[in-house]
Parts: sequence; structure tokens; C-alpha cells
Amino acid sequence: MERGNHPQPTVFVIFGAGGDLTWRKLVPALHNLYLDGHLPEHLAVLGVDSKALGEEKFREHLREGVDQFSRRGKTKKKEWDEFASRLSYLGGDFAEPQTGEALADRLQTFDQEWDIEANRIFYLAIPPALVETVAGQLAKLGLCKDCRRDRLVVEKPFGHDLASARALDRTLTGMFAESQIYRIDHYLGKETVQNLLAFRFANALFEPIWDRRYIDQVQITVAETVGVGHRASYYEHAGALRDMVQNHLLQILCLIAMESPVSFAADEIRNKKVDVLRAIHPIRPEKVHNFAVRGQYGKGRLGDREIPGYRQEEGVALRSSTETFAALRLFIDNWRWQGVPFYLRTGKRLAAKVSQVSILFRPVPHQSFPATAVENWQPNRLVIRIQPEEGITLRIQAKQPGTRMVLGPVDMQFCYRDAFRTTTPEAYETLLLDVMRGDATLFMRADQVETAWSVIAPVLETWESVPPADFPDYRPDSWGPETADALLTQDGRNWFAPVLSEKDGEDENP
Ligand SMILES: NC(=O)c1ccc[n+]([C@@H]2O[C@H](COP(=O)([O-])OP(=O)(O)OC[C@H]3O[C@@H](n4cnc5c(N)ncnc54)[C@H](OP(=O)(O)O)[C@@H]3O)[C@@H](O)[C@H]2O)c1
Repeated sequence: MERGNHPQPTVFVIFGAGGDLTWRKLVPALHNLYLDGHLPEHLAVLGVDSKALGEEKFREHLREGVDQFSRRGKTKKKEWDEFASRLSYLGGDFAEPQTGEALADRLQTFDQEWDIEANRIFYLAIPPALVETVAGQLAKLGLCKDCRRDRLVVEKPFGHDLASARALDRTLTGMFAESQIYRIDHYLGKETVQNLLAFRFANALFEPIWDRRYIDQVQITVAETVGVGHRASYYEHAGALRDMVQNHLLQILCLIAMESPVSFAADEIRNKKVDVLRAIHPIRPEKVHNFAVRGQYGKGRLGDREIPGYRQEEGVALRSSTETFAALRLFIDNWRWQGVPFYLRTGKRLAAKVSQVSILFRPVPHQSFPATAVENWQPNRLVIRIQPEEGITLRIQAKQPGTRMVLGPVDMQFCYRDAFRTTTPEAYETLLLDVMRGDATLFMRADQVETAWSVIAPVLETWESVPPADFPDYRPDSWGPETADALLTQDGRNWFAPVLSEKDGEDENP
């Protein structure tokens, strides 16, 4: 189905409807889609959860979430009441067959009431350990057997490593067609991440120089200022490499490095992205230290605030070896990128909340200006800011005002918010609408997920077999451990200081 179509009549079933994701993200996104007129006339949102909530309590609870987290701010009574009339609740344990049977009855009722065979979306907003249970119930009851109408949405993490990701894919694809499975990585729904495709493939300017002949290096930074917060029980078993690099950072790398797609068909774009992952030069286990660095934040001060170290956070083991910082140095073995390093870093408690891609171009082949003119000269640098202040900065050289020829860098800025003067939809709005339209372009296919796990597998295995000797090894409010600098200095390069705007540094979800 083409992007842009209006969705067909839909029953949107949320498993885990009493949980955090539903409260903070899914229902605020559905509410905005509803207000923006993107949802079908025949729409029902059915929450399934073990919590003892009646229909009214469920609606009240969701309204609080929308009031708190929607980009539109507080709900208005009339609008909310209209939307809420489409929300219903089914209490029960996912593992109990009665829950599935009650769900099947409800689904049938909608079809009968509407006199239509509605599309059915089963959104698994549940702990990863329950995915197979719920998917199994759906398959057993034949609730997801129509490939055109029935879709299953699975949240990250998709497995814990390559073996578990493969096992999960085998289970899911044993019950559903791959085209029915929407693996969601909310990062791909962000406007600026999508804008990477527009920037690269809708402009003639950059594509001819987008290769090893003109580009010296690419750096991808996704930094958070927050610590682990309430996520310790999950994060202790994940760490930065699994939590951020395997999915978000490698996806950004794919968008930067992929070949131009022949069309915008979902599989065409996903094929091109998988090609990049497959071309990443494998890291040999005995060479991991040359290609990967890990770190963990210690305690420190932020202004007059004491900041606990990772090991002092609630739910974290006293001698935890979980990394809260990870950096990789990757190479892509193909004609376009041979020899160009891609440096990736991510971490918690870093000096700013910022996600950006910096692309450094090679120096001009011949410097014709006198030596005195080029003392401040810098190569061109393109910075794609993904968040929080979405936009693009191009650093060029200009003559400094004055009577002498002196060159210096200046920035050309494109700021998404100023250029379009409109609020952009939240990533979940884009993604939920795409699921309803049946457009899988921004979702992860099984082979993408597995190839991404293969890229980091040698690092994960090596790190697991050799506990870190020097944790904690970086201060809060820094840019990570010193070893991260050494990763680049071996190539005679340095990390760039991110281009920050006034909004950068705020704490939000990555
Ligand atoms: N929260 C986020 O911002 C976020 C972001 C990205 C991805 N995710 C992913 O989204 C998924 C959901 O996350 P979440 O934070 O919303 O989790 P959550 O807050 O734990 O929500 C899960 C809900 O499912 C219910 N539940 C658990 N087992 C059940 C069972 N056997 N039968 C019926 N109900 C059951 C839970 O009820 P109880 O609380 O009573 O057990 C809870 O209400 C996870 O895979 C997570 O990794 C979440």
C-alpha cells in the first residue's frame, strides 16, 4: 500500500494497555492522529491488560497520560469525549486462554456492528518475555491469519543477541507472514531521521560527493544527560551497545551510507539498508579493542547537585559491569565507502542531550591562499541535527571582513522549526499511522535486525567474556571515557564537539 492512503476501518488492540508505553506514547499519538483527522471513521482502540481497571478508569488513566505527554498539551473535554468513546478495555492475563477467547468475541462484535471486516492491529506493548505467549495465543485462535488485514506490532528489543533474535524471528514467522510483522524502532519515525532520505535523494547537490573521494569521516553521536533512571532492571541486562547501537545508531548509519533507492517501496529501502549492514567490515574478536570502547559513569557533581554513579543507582548491582557508554569504529567494505571510518558513540550522563551526524569532507586538494590567510581554515563539515533542535548546519569557509584576505569558518543553518513553522508529529504518530496504512518502510525487517546483531555480536561476546577492569571510568557531564578518544587518535582524528543550540541539554527521551 502507498504511503499517504487513509487507513481502512481498524480495531487497534493494545496488549499491555495499562503500561508506561501506552500511557506516555501510544495513546497520546492516537489522540493526535484522531484530532488531525487521520484516523478512519470506524476505529476502536481496545486495551488488554491484567490490571483491574474498568472501562471508565481506563479512559481516565489514559486521559491523564494525554494531558501530560501530548504535544498539544491538555485535552479539551468535547474532543476527548469523542475520542474516548472509541476506547474500551478487556481485563485478563495474556497467558489465560479465556483472555484470548474474550478478545475474539470483542473483535467479532466490532465487525458485526460496523458490518465490515475491519483491519486488526495487535500492538504488543508488553515485556519482551511475553511476546511469544501473546503471539502464540493470537495464532492459536486464528486472530491474525488474514495477511491483508491483520498486523502484529512488536516493540524493541528484538532479542538479546543474535541467537535470541533468530529464535524470536523463527517463532514469529512460523505463525505470521513477514509482511504482517511490524518491528518498531521509534527512532525511524522521527522527522529528521526521515529527512535524511529527503536530504540525500531529493537534492542533486550532495549525492555526487557522497563517497570516499570527498568524505573523510562520519561521526554519529547520540548522547543523553540523564542516568539510568527507573530502567535499571532492563538496562542492567542490556547496556548501551544493545540499547542504542544495535538499533538506533546502526539505523542512522544505514541512512547515511545506503545507495539511492530505485523507488520508495518499503522493501526497496529496506534492501538498501541491509546492504549497508552486510558490508560492515566484521570485527574480529581479538581486535575488538581497536574497534570498540565501553564505559560506565561514576558519581560526580552537576552544579550544586550530587549525581550518583551508575553503580549507586537503584536496582543496579554494586559491581555492575554494564556499559553506559559505547563507541564503535566501523568501516564499510564497498566502493563508495572503502577506508572511510564511521565513528559511533552513545552514552548516559554525557555533557549534552544531543543526537547528530557530523560528516567531515576532505581538505581542498590545493590551497592557493597565502599561509597567513588559512590559519583558521577548516574542511567543510555537514552536521545533521536529529534532536532536540532538528536541522542541518553546513560549515563553509568565508573571507573574514577586513582589508586582508583571511579565511575562517561560518555556518549555514537550516532549522526545521523555523523553516516550516509548524509542530511536527511525534515519531509514534507517524509510525502508528503507517501501520494502519500497511506501510512498512520505517519498520525493521527480520534480516535487518539479525544483521545488526551480527555486526555487534563479536563486541558483545568479547565484553561479556572479559569484565571491565576500570569501571566506573567517566564523570557525569563529560563526553565519556578517555579510551573513547584513543579510539580515534589511532587514526589521527578526534571527536567533534557537537553543534549545540539553546534547546540542547534538556532531558527528554532519546
Ligand atoms: N516505556 C517506553 O517508553 C518504551 C520505549 C520503547 C520500547 N518499549 C517497549 O515496550 C514494551 C512495553 O513497555 P512498557 O514500559 O509499557 O512496559 P510496562 O509498563 O511494564 O507495561 C506492560 C503492561 O503489561 C501488563 N502485563 C504484564 N504481564 C501481563 C500478563 N501476563 N497479562 C496481562 N497483562 C500483563 C503489565 O501489568 P503489570 O504492571 O500489572 O505487570 C503492564 O501494565 C517493552 O517491550 C519495552 O521494551 C517501551
